[in-house]
Amino acid sequence: MLKFNYKYMNNQNQKPRILTGDRPTGPLHIGHYFGALKDRVELQDKYDTFVIIADVQALTDNFLTPKKVRDNVKEVVMDNLAVGIDPKKSTIFIQSMIPEIAELTVFYSNLVTVARLERNPTTKEELKQKEKLFKNNITYGFLGYPVSQAADITAFQADLVPAGEDQVPHIELAREIVRKFNEIYGETLVEPKAKISAFPRVKGLDGNSKMGKSLNNAIYLSDSPDIIRQKVKMAFTDPQKIRLTDIGHPDNCMVYYYHQMFTDSNDLKVVESECRTGARGCVACKNQLADNIIKFLAPIQEKRHYYESHPEIVDQIIKEGTAKAREVAKETLRQVKEKMFLNY
Ligand code: TRP
Ligand code: SF4
Repeated sequence: MLKFNYKYMNNQNQKPRILTGDRPTGPLHIGHYFGALKDRVELQDKYDTFVIIADVQALTDNFLTPKKVRDNVKEVVMDNLAVGIDPKKSTIFIQSMIPEIAELTVFYSNLVTVARLERNPTTKEELKQKEKLFKNNITYGFLGYPVSQAADITAFQADLVPAGEDQVPHIELAREIVRKFNEIYGETLVEPKAKISAFPRVKGLDGNSKMGKSLNNAIYLSDSPDIIRQKVKMAFTDPQKIRLTDIGHPDNCMVYYYHQMFTDSNDLKVVESECRTGARGCVACKNQLADNIIKFLAPIQEKRHYYESHPEIVDQIIKEGTAKAREVAKETLRQVKEKMFLNY
């Protein structure tokens, strides 16, 4: 059981609070689903859930293409709604519409050293993939985005942050900032805890350890059946299995890897034994997987189509969510500024 600091919980309904979210840089894929969204949907009944559409954070490595970020905000909101985030239970809001987050980021920047930010393994890893953008000159904004993320979390006095494994260093930094703030200025902020999803990382179709937009190896929640079939056909399979009758090794096969997620346990046993004995071919095996993915995504896509054809409902959800989020963040800033003698 997780223990919460109820003394500092300022939400009226007394449920512990969650803050989690996504960068709007592209449509969400099945890696996001198993790595974060699935948990998020389940947790929204027990927690007062806030979902941030982190457009300001997205700009830290997309500042040259702001229109792309803008165009993906609604897409990511619709992806969240499609998988079952219920606007009656969860508050969806846009980061840039909450100026209190930017304010907090400035205050927190005094509590974090540059060396501390340079040690962050997640930003280090991301930087490797951003060589073209940054060359050897990282921006202040990119190096500091985890500070901004600490502000995202603490502006809402969140108790829990469900996220993928890669977010742990950021949440750890947020915890350090909170402790430091409370120590210097007096007890004000809630120290958040990370909740790592059971499926922390979904591999890409090509076997890459991460499914990602930039890696071109993802199945998107919004992919049509034709696209799904096409992508599954290209998936990496056991290179030793060439003919149908060749003995295969499911553990060396991305198709089997995804069967584990999308195929029920009885069928899965058949897939495995037929592969190992050379009783099934990869073409049929891929068709079966594609069918199962399509079946799995059908209700999600049906819901998405509803929102796509009712954009005014999506706008309303964003507007109401952002207004509610703003109220919460304002109250936190009131307390923070009072403690910092900034309450003019
Ligand atoms: N960094 C997260 C990602 O890349 C997105 C994010 C921004 C986030 N702010 C957050 C996640 C606060 C959890 C809590 O997916
Ligand atoms: Fe992979 Fe299926 Fe081919 Fe076996 S039969 S190698 S599990 S695609």
